[in-house]
Amino acid sequence: MRRFIPFLALFAALQLPAQTITSDPRLNAEIDRRTAAIVDKVVAWRHDIHQHPELGYQEKRTAALVAAHLKSLGLVVQENVGGIGGVVGILKGGKAGPTVALRADMDALPITEQVDLPFKSTVRTVYNGQDVGVMHACGHDTHVAMLMGTAEVLAGMRAELPGTVKFIFQPAEEVPPRGGAAALIDAGVLEGVDVIFGLHVGPGELGSIGYRAGPIQASADNFRIVIHGRGGHGAIPANTIDPIVVGAQVVGALQTIVSRQIDLTVAPAVVTVGAFHGGVRENVIADSAFMIGTIRTFDPRIRTSIHSRMKRIAESIAEASGATATVTIELGYPVTANDPAIVARFIPTLKRVAGAAGASEHGLTMPSEDFSRYAEKVPGFFFNLGVTPADQDPKTAPSNHSPLFQADDKALPVGVRAMSNVALDYLRGGVPQKIVP
Ligand code: NI
Repeated sequence: MRRFIPFLALFAALQLPAQTITSDPRLNAEIDRRTAAIVDKVVAWRHDIHQHPELGYQEKRTAALVAAHLKSLGLVVQENVGGIGGVVGILKGGKAGPTVALRADMDALPITEQVDLPFKSTVRTVYNGQDVGVMHACGHDTHVAMLMGTAEVLAGMRAELPGTVKFIFQPAEEVPPRGGAAALIDAGVLEGVDVIFGLHVGPGELGSIGYRAGPIQASADNFRIVIHGRGGHGAIPANTIDPIVVGAQVVGALQTIVSRQIDLTVAPAVVTVGAFHGGVRENVIADSAFMIGTIRTFDPRIRTSIHSRMKRIAESIAEASGATATVTIELGYPVTANDPAIVARFIPTLKRVAGAAGASEHGLTMPSEDFSRYAEKVPGFFFNLGVTPADQDPKTAPSNHSPLFQADDKALPVGVRAMSNVALDYLRGGVPQKIVP
């Protein structure tokens, strides 16, 4: 046992700078003071962005607002990053140190807002051939406003920052399968970045913070299965291969993947057939039928296993009936996984920021996020901020993507303080020591 001690001591010494919490009450108080001084501006930005929502890859106005603000703070600003309208602001601190990236997504959704707010969106667009409203129903308006505020707070403390903060304003989070993060990563936004933080608003006690180590949000893949049969007269089925009957068997058998074939003690999974189309009239058996759906997982091996099982099931059932099946799986966002060491290190920071509203561990959630793409490349920590208005019950409040989703402005300063504090505390931890095995 004794001979391991020098090795352990070395290991501990190498780990120490990255593990140590180095919050400074004076600087924390300064973040609070600077946040309080700009709350009205953050709220005004949020209302403005909420009233002028833009769909993914169309965030021109939002990006221009962000870029103008970052320039006014004296940051180095990159525009049209990734060729998709991303905005990156770089704040170099007064001292040398690591680089922290903070990310906000900028896009809205094709949803008609039903909340009666003074800054309600009345913007409309044509989406998938339908005339619909555009709404910040996922709260990305608050993410942008809070990160603009964070940039202002930290820019004011530039001299105190031992390192660099990179503010990433990303388009098109809501546009899977590729999403906006991939283009920004390809453009090099993570070069030199040691860690990335992001937050997402959602139902929860106002100003509370939720965190979780390891996997937090599911991967999301789309699938399409086409059953090729042989059409004919509905009264003479013996001369046909009915793709609807074959497809119905496939729909049933797909349910056995999650219920019978996956070890759910490893991680949960979902396979949903979202649409099934075939045929046009009563007495005609169609040539083909198709179904589309989504696959959600938290484990990379379960993810690939479901893909191969779906293929096997659809093709084998089709073959048993003399039909054929074509299975196409479109890979979407990977599992969003938080770095356990980073989460452990920043729980005290988040508890301090949330105060009485509290910071606590939350469960897995099935929606997906392209923050996952950053967290695949560098250690990442994505946490939740509760924004349910105080007069509503967070358990029954309309969720993100609902036309009734509401985020209370009172949560905005909590988000600004959370992002400012994690960035500052990380920088004060020093350059992370990389252990070469
Ligand atoms: Ni979102």
